[in-house]
Amino acid sequence: MRKRIKFIPVLLVAIMVLIAAGCSSESGGSNDLSVGIVLPTKDEQRWVQDEERFKEAIGETDYTTEILFSQGSSAKEKENVETLISKGIDVLIITPQDGDSAAAAADAAKEEGITVISYDRLITNTDSVDYYVTFDSVAVGAAQAQYLVDNSEGSGIPLYLYAGAASDNNAYLFFEGAWNVLQPKIADGTFTIANSSEAEALQDKAELTREEMSAIVSQLTTSWDPNEAKNKAETHLTAAGDDMKGDIAILGPNDDTARAIADVFSQDSSVTSYVISGQDATKASIQYIIDGKQSMTVFKDVRTLVKDAMGMAITILDGDTPDTTGSYDNGEIDVPAMQSDVISVDKDNVQSEIIDSGYYEASEFTGLE
Ligand code: BGC
Repeated sequence: MRKRIKFIPVLLVAIMVLIAAGCSSESGGSNDLSVGIVLPTKDEQRWVQDEERFKEAIGETDYTTEILFSQGSSAKEKENVETLISKGIDVLIITPQDGDSAAAAADAAKEEGITVISYDRLITNTDSVDYYVTFDSVAVGAAQAQYLVDNSEGSGIPLYLYAGAASDNNAYLFFEGAWNVLQPKIADGTFTIANSSEAEALQDKAELTREEMSAIVSQLTTSWDPNEAKNKAETHLTAAGDDMKGDIAILGPNDDTARAIADVFSQDSSVTSYVISGQDATKASIQYIIDGKQSMTVFKDVRTLVKDAMGMAITILDGDTPDTTGSYDNGEIDVPAMQSDVISVDKDNVQSEIIDSGYYEASEFTGLE
């Protein structure tokens, strides 16, 4: 009985504190969410990788976080950001579904005094982005192209080009990096462009403007969608004469689309061999590389990107200014950025880079030597 009498006031105080916290409109209170994370889609293993790595990193901090997915919709993305704003976040980490459309969500967060970190993809044409945490995306495209150059022999090799989504700023950075390496090899006759009138029209230009790149990307876009990639590859192969078959090279923009494209090309009996690039080191593509069906991937170690983004968020929450290593022009401002390196992975170094580094378990694959 005595115990009970003592307990009631404590409970009452606790309830009053909880009610007060719940009614508070101030962000940053101990019961508010600290960091909101918005990722583009659960349908691609690339972003599921990010979610898993964020969850690991979140376990190591005292700050509270929540991860929401936009499922390929800018409207859902805006809704997600509004939900997180209402939960009192101080920092928003967001990978835009569409760089331009996400500006409205960033603006809404900024108006509430929230620090906005663009994660992997840059939000474009707004001054509401505070920081950008990214891989070196120009280096991604350059690594893909360099692999095609290093693994193609002879001259006049048919070259099939594919690009990412035109709404993703990265698609241009990847293409720019690839073009820097491929253009001189097109100009010297090593490669012959097989599937793009726009790229052919510009093949003598070492440096392309954004508009010129846009013309090529629009023609060759996969929209990051394996089905669109497959349909485009089928159309290209139907249109190609035998002189554009044989031993060929394919610029595959990422792993999911590269596998779809590779599946189409491997069905054509006039294609005797192909070398194809990818990126993301997704599990399905690591298996394709082991099986000899995809030539390479660009390994973007998501553990590093997550560590950088969470480190930046915590620095901000602690009231300090995060370190940056450069900046990216988003069409409106130069966004201070932190950038990490990428690694080219094929059959020869898949064991050391992907398995021995602890990124994936050997048991998740078959046929590893
Ligand atoms: C990312 C890639 C990803 C692609 C499709 C790009 O912005 O950098 O890693 O494969 O989007 O989701």
